[in-house]
Amino acid sequence: MPDEALHLPLINRILALEKDTPGSLLPILHAIQQGAGYIPSIAVPEIAQALNLSKAEVQGVISFYHDFRTTPPAQHILRLCQAESCQSMGSGLLAAQLKERLSLNESGDSADARVSLQTVYCLGACACSPAMEIDGRLHARLTPERLDDLVNRCLEGQAC
Ligand code: FES
Repeated sequence: MPDEALHLPLINRILALEKDTPGSLLPILHAIQQGAGYIPSIAVPEIAQALNLSKAEVQGVISFYHDFRTTPPAQHILRLCQAESCQSMGSGLLAAQLKERLSLNESGDSADARVSLQTVYCLGACACSPAMEIDGRLHARLTPERLDDLVNRCLEGQAC
């Protein structure tokens, strides 16, 4: 379990800058996630107090938006498209390949927190399906062999 208290200075800095701006809850949450990589649970009471909201209100907003993380991100984020075009070109098999190869749990995370697989619906590369982003970089026309090679490079610390 990470020491969430390490993020308190960041959280307090962001709150001091943004708390008096109307409608600042979402910008505050985005800023915390950008700085810490996720929304630590320790941020919830701090935000609630600063914005005069209940903790349940803050928690409700965090859980409503899927882009907010409440756990630290993995070292490498794989975003595999499962929309129609990619599905028709075998992205389901690629997902199964990744889950088996990396021993991913139900949430798509590896036990060593090195890799997290997320399902997305269209990366704007439908003409080159199947497509996937690795750490923000798009890869298209994937095959099982190319995927294996990309994962190897990623795990070895090479550019992927
Ligand atoms: S359907 Fe996969 S990139 Fe558009």
